[in-house]
Amino acid sequence: MIKSLRGMNDILDENEYKRFTYFLDVATDVAKKYGFHYIETPLLEETALFKRSVGESSDIVGKEMYQFIDKGENDVCLRPEGTAGVVRAFIQKKLDKAGGIHRFFYYGPMFRYERPQKGRLREFHQFGVESFGVASVYEDAAMIMMVADILKRLGIGYRLQLNSLGDTNCMPQYRDNLVSFIESVEDDICQDCKRRKETNPIRVLDCKNEKCQSLYENAPKLINALCDSCENDFETLKKILDDNGITYEIDTNLVRGLDYYSKTAFEFVSDNIGSQSAIAGGGRYDRLVEFLDGRPTPAVGFAMGIERLLELIDMPEESREGYYLGAMDNEAIDTIVSLTHKKRASDKAVCDYKAKNLKNHLKSADKMNAKYCCVIGTNEMNEGTVWVKDLQNKTESIIKREDF
Ligand code: HAM
Repeated sequence: MIKSLRGMNDILDENEYKRFTYFLDVATDVAKKYGFHYIETPLLEETALFKRSVGESSDIVGKEMYQFIDKGENDVCLRPEGTAGVVRAFIQKKLDKAGGIHRFFYYGPMFRYERPQKGRLREFHQFGVESFGVASVYEDAAMIMMVADILKRLGIGYRLQLNSLGDTNCMPQYRDNLVSFIESVEDDICQDCKRRKETNPIRVLDCKNEKCQSLYENAPKLINALCDSCENDFETLKKILDDNGITYEIDTNLVRGLDYYSKTAFEFVSDNIGSQSAIAGGGRYDRLVEFLDGRPTPAVGFAMGIERLLELIDMPEESREGYYLGAMDNEAIDTIVSLTHKKRASDKAVCDYKAKNLKNHLKSADKMNAKYCCVIGTNEMNEGTVWVKDLQNKTESIIKREDF
């Protein structure tokens, strides 16, 4: 038997699908309220796009890409995340040259060849937003508030972790200091960190190895080395969050796994889903548009991991909806089919093609959570009527077919 690939799941359970669409309804509603509109980019892009944006030193590009050569000898890859494709589309459509503010949201599958475990898939879904053209840190705060609004509407508790990664003014000096520190403990750090020291030293700070972690407790902290502009922005960001009742923790080791960030970096984590606890992450990436050959454009965004959120959603109680129609005699089946067709012009309606007794029709209507169970037997057939039971209010009535 052919099975789905490891770490790739079907969504066929009706309840899971309902949770999925409920999440998307809430998230898109909130994004639209913040003035974002939908963008869709291809699942497959040139590999170079991710190498240049997410970064060669990241785990995503280094180890996790679904990369192959297509029939036209192009080096392509399934997107491991959404930001790079949106930035590519933004530049390709010349929106960088047009200037102004452009705000997009998107959702869809992402692919990372990671070791599958609970909460970590090889095909997973993200909901994300990207905002272009706003340099003000108020936009960073809006991103965080948007995630908080979505989580609040879904009834999901969280901890927000915040850091600033500095900019081209303060980062190079900090990087030099950090490298000197890493060299002082180099004999004791893991192989991955030795590699990171060469490629992207700040990534050592989020190494999961306990020994490395305890060594890095004494490492210089970027937060103490920010230039005035970065420090002012970080203070403003904290004040906006304070003013709007959003609590946060400063995590000086939060560097995020993608290379394109500068200044604000944030992650929302849940304590209720096990070790893969990040439910959303994002930050500012002011250099990426230029890096991908566009006109320099400030940008900030985030993405949420939908599968992780589905486990946490507090679903509202579902109310009964629509019509179930059934015949008690074979002669009534054609009439039932026509009435169902008529009802579908305005409502959800489902009919049974087999004649059954009333008790069985009521059972079927209840199972599909219909609001009305509508049945035609011999009497109704002769009298031109339909017997209707309102399953929510538990009332019964006889309705003329022309009024149905
Ligand atoms: P990211 O932190 O790599 O950021 O991913 C965002 C979210 O996707 C994570 O917080 C997590 O919930 C979910 N996620 C990541 N990997 C997996 C996996 N293997 N299985 C299940 N869920 C996963 C980005 O992707 C950036 N593009 C976010 C961004 C947008 N930054 C700026 N704009």
